[in-house]
Amino acid sequence: MFDLSFYNGKKVFLTGHTGFKGSWLSRILIKSGAILTGYSMEPPTEPSLFKLADIGNEMTSIVGDIRDFAQLKQSFDEAAPEIVLHLAAQPLVRDSYEHPVYTYETNVMGTVNILECVRQSSTVKSFLNVTTDKVYQNNEWEWGYRENEPLDGFDPYSNSKSCSELVTHSYKNSFFAGRDVAISTARAGNVIGGGDFAANRIIPDCIRAAESGRDIIVRNPASTRPYQHVLEPLFAYLMIAARQYDDISLSGWYNVGPDECDCLTTGELVDIFCQKWGGIKWINQSDNGPHEANFLKLDCSKIKKVFGWQARWHIDEAICKTVEWSKAYLNKQDIRAEMDRQIAVFVGDVR
Ligand SMILES: NC(=O)c1ccc[n+]([C@@H]2O[C@H](COP(=O)([O-])OP(=O)(O)OC[C@H]3O[C@@H](n4cnc5c(N)ncnc54)[C@H](O)[C@@H]3O)[C@@H](O)[C@H]2O)c1
Repeated sequence: MFDLSFYNGKKVFLTGHTGFKGSWLSRILIKSGAILTGYSMEPPTEPSLFKLADIGNEMTSIVGDIRDFAQLKQSFDEAAPEIVLHLAAQPLVRDSYEHPVYTYETNVMGTVNILECVRQSSTVKSFLNVTTDKVYQNNEWEWGYRENEPLDGFDPYSNSKSCSELVTHSYKNSFFAGRDVAISTARAGNVIGGGDFAANRIIPDCIRAAESGRDIIVRNPASTRPYQHVLEPLFAYLMIAARQYDDISLSGWYNVGPDECDCLTTGELVDIFCQKWGGIKWINQSDNGPHEANFLKLDCSKIKKVFGWQARWHIDEAICKTVEWSKAYLNKQDIRAEMDRQIAVFVGDVR
């Protein structure tokens, strides 16, 4: 089984460390003893988990644009990493309709730039590109997508991540055959958890409504998404990066998603949130926003078969942990301590 102590003393380069997933991932890596360098723009939200938990003070935190190859390369070479985790992205579907050029520049050329650093490096042994479940051509059918199905996201965000996948495949084929550098991608579904302050995401919308005593407005209650707690894919990323470091034959393209029983509609998700939070309700109110997929499920047979991976928290537990974190935040408790507590509970759940 995967052991976090693998990261003790390892040099890790993480892009997107100031974001929601990046902050949690940085905290896990720091607690595991990794020598961590992060490279990202400033936190994308105010407030942000990165600042609330003062994530930057136990790592080398560099503020830089992934599109700026010269600055990225200099930071990368100074860090001389063995492991690279690429999360920096413009990750919002709605923003991608407003800023398609910026989205493609960041998500596609950003991937080219980081892979170019890896190509020119003599230290890297393991690279993981974090993409999304939205990379697939969505047929709105009830089956889960498998890793060998066509990549052709609909909107600029999803499509830019399909392109980011293809860039990774080309680099792997063109430049890494015969080299001892493992290259993988991970396609995870929507995540929930404490510390996400992004606009137009359902759980942050729920918490903002709860905080201000309003009803929660749900734009698309019938849409089905593979929701998971944020720690699930993060531990899967760390597992893939660690296992392929020792065995390059494990590198590849992996879906990371919940079990069938945890694939909910957004309405069902918000029902559970209301029940756990108490004293709040939701209303269905479409704002006629741009096209978003209605039905999206992943087939995760591959990661289960190759690594014996299993999701640990069912959706009830995932929402509970999100509510606990958010109440700790609203009650002005120690956010970093709450993160550490949840990470410890998650790790303790490993059989
Ligand atoms: N949150 C989800 O539900 C979800 C689901 C699937 C995949 N993902 C992927 O996970 C990754 C992290 O997502 P998140 O939810 O933490 O997003 P986030 O917006 O919280 O964080 C994005 C990070 O990327 C950085 N960034 C953005 N543009 C940049 C640029 N031009 N140069 C350098 N850094 C830049 C930001 O500063 C931040 O650190 C993304 O690649 C996203 O596509 C997220």
